[in-house]
Amino acid sequence: MIETQDVVIIGAGAAGMMCAIEAGKRGRRVVVIDHARAPGEKIRISGGGRCNFTNIHAGPKNFLSDNPHFCKSALARYRPQDFVSLVERHGIAWHEKTLGQLFCDHSAKDIIRMLLAEMKEVGAMLRLETTISAVERTASGFRVATSAGTVDTASLVVASGGKSIPKMGATGLAYRIAEQFGLPVVETRPALVPFTLDPAQLEKLGGLAGVAADAEVRFGKIAFREAVLVTHRGLSGPAILQISSYWREGAEIVLRLMPDIDIASILKGMRRTGGRQAAQTALADILPRRLAQFFAEEAKLAGRLLADLSDKAIDALSASIQAWTLKPAGTEGYRTAEVTLGGVDTRALDSRTMRATNIPGLYFIGECVDVTGWLGGYNFQWAWASGFAAGQDV
Ligand code: FDA
Repeated sequence: MIETQDVVIIGAGAAGMMCAIEAGKRGRRVVVIDHARAPGEKIRISGGGRCNFTNIHAGPKNFLSDNPHFCKSALARYRPQDFVSLVERHGIAWHEKTLGQLFCDHSAKDIIRMLLAEMKEVGAMLRLETTISAVERTASGFRVATSAGTVDTASLVVASGGKSIPKMGATGLAYRIAEQFGLPVVETRPALVPFTLDPAQLEKLGGLAGVAADAEVRFGKIAFREAVLVTHRGLSGPAILQISSYWREGAEIVLRLMPDIDIASILKGMRRTGGRQAAQTALADILPRRLAQFFAEEAKLAGRLLADLSDKAIDALSASIQAWTLKPAGTEGYRTAEVTLGGVDTRALDSRTMRATNIPGLYFIGECVDVTGWLGGYNFQWAWASGFAAGQDV
C-alpha cells in the first residue's frame, strides 16, 4: 500500500525540522525521513556541544553565494530574534559569547528537544533509520521509495545537508536529486575548514603546534580578525576557518599577528631605553614565547641584542610578523569542514519559498543550497530561515 502525505521532508537536521514545524502549523500532514539513528546530529555536536544557534547580527553580507541577493528575502522573514523568542518560549537559557554569537548555557541537546517538541505539537512525523532508494515525479507530485515503504506527496522538501563530515551521515543526496530534476549545482567545496601545510613548512612550524595568537587573516580584499591556531597539520582557529571559505588552491594568505600593535615602534622604543635584551626576549613581551623565538630565528636575529639592531632589521622583523605570508597546501577537506560551499544553484529556486522554479512542489533548504554562512551562528540562521520560508509554502 502506498502512503500519502502532504509534505515529505528528506533530512531531520536544522532546516528540515524547522520546515516540518512551520508546515505542521499550517495543518499540513508532514513526514520527515532521515537515515540517521537520531535527528539533528550536527546540532548536537555544534558549538562545542552548546550550539551557536544564531548570530544577532546575521544579514546577507555574512553569506557566500554565486547569487548574493538570494538569501535576503528568507533572512528578512525569519530573523535571529524570531529564533531567540522560540528558544525563550522553551525556557532554554542562552548567552552571547562574542561577536553576536548566541549559545545555549547548558547543552545543544536542548535545541534538538525543543524542535522535536514543536514537531510533536503540530503532529509532524519523524521516520529515522530510513533510507531513500528513489524519488520520482508523478501526476500529482512525487513518489518517494524508502526502506520503510513508498510515500506519495504533493510537496517534497530536500533538507539533507551538504557533504561535510561524511562520518556523521552527510551524503550529497540533495545534489543528486537536483541533478535528476535538471537543476544546476554550483561546484561544492569544503568550507570553514583548517588549512594543511606542505611537509617543509610543517617542519619549520612544527615547534609551534598548539600556539594561538590574535590575528587579522587576509585573502585579497577579505579579512577576518580572530584567533589563529598552529596545529600539527597546519593552521586552524576561527580566523583561519573564516578565510578558508574564500581561499582558492595555490593562493597565499597574509597573517597580521597582533594587529592592534605597531611592533616596530615598540621594539625601537625598547631599544631606546637600553635594548640589552635579546631580540626573541623583547618579542616575547608582545607575542607568545614560541612565536617570538620562531620569528627571531627566521630573521636570523635570535641571540642578537636589540641595541645592535638597525631600524631596517627591526622593520623587516616586524613585517615578517605583521605581513606573514603563507601558502596553504590545501584544506583538511570534508572530513572536518563545518560546511559545504556551493550547492543547489539558487538561480533555479524562488527566493521567497525555496521552491524549484521549474518543478512545482520541489523545495531545497539549508546547507544543500548555494548559500554558506560565516562561522558564528550564521549557518544555523540560514537553516532556520530557509526552513521557515519553505514551511509557509509547502
Ligand atoms: P544537516 O546536515 O544538519 O541535516 C541533514 C540531515 O539529512 C541529517 O540529519 C542527515 O542524517 C540527513 N541525510 C543526509 N543524507 C541523507 C540521505 N541520503 N537519506 C536520508 N537522510 C539523509 N553552524 C552554526 O550556525 N553554529 C554552530 O555552532 C555550528 N557548529 C558546527 C560544528 C560542526 C562540527 C559542524 C560540522 C557544523 C557546524 N555548524 C554550525 C554548521 C551547521 O551544523 C550546518 O550548517 C547545519 O547543520 C545545516 O543544517 P541542514 O539542516 O541543512 O543540514
